[in-house]
Amino acid sequence: MSTSKNTLIAPSVLAADFANLQRDIEMINNSEADWFHIDIMDGVFVPNISFGMPVLQAISKHAKKTIDVHLMIVDPDRYITTFKNLGADILTVHYEACTHLHRSLQAIKAEGMKAGVAINPHTNVTLLEDTIKDIDLVCLMSVNPGFGGQSFIENTYKKVKQLKEIISRNNATTLIEIDGGVTNQNAKQLVEAGADVLVAGSYVFGATNPTATIANLKEITQ
Ligand code: DX5
Ligand code: ZN
Repeated sequence: MSTSKNTLIAPSVLAADFANLQRDIEMINNSEADWFHIDIMDGVFVPNISFGMPVLQAISKHAKKTIDVHLMIVDPDRYITTFKNLGADILTVHYEACTHLHRSLQAIKAEGMKAGVAINPHTNVTLLEDTIKDIDLVCLMSVNPGFGGQSFIENTYKKVKQLKEIISRNNATTLIEIDGGVTNQNAKQLVEAGADVLVAGSYVFGATNPTATIANLKEITQ
């Protein structure tokens, strides 16, 4: 049965082959993917370091679709202007890393970017009730942030439904993005629960045919 909505697919570049980055970027450009999902990790907020500014600059030079940057770093306010200059269209900060979340959201929008908030698996969606109208995108972490290739946490379905209810009740236009462990096994159920954007890293890049895998994710979620 068709869900008749345009679910967006955002391959996570974290799972790309960094020795063949341009090839993998062109694969996304030429696929049915909607966004580039870019994971920035600082080794402090999360126990891993991914890549930083020069790599994102190189990606931006070739990427022809929306660049969705997921900052897993402490004190993200320090880098808002930097990421705008590096080509970010959407900048997502972690709820758990922002003492003054509302101020961070305003600062991201003042730079002309869409403002996103990511929440860890342990963070309750009701904490976003008072800022939901200021948030363009909520990134629900369906794994603990820091690594690709982890198993999907089933409690996420419940969180999507709760968040969808908060968004509707506030007449907000916030998109719900799911990040971590997304495959063809959970994609449709996530969209039926209310998800708008699905991030997929290892499922896409670990496939024999990443382009076909993206097309399949797109097809089963419309
Ligand atoms: C995890 C990252 C994810 C990751 C998803 O901290 O935020 O975006 O790349 O990778 P998979 O799809 O392999 O779980
Ligand atoms: Zn991510």
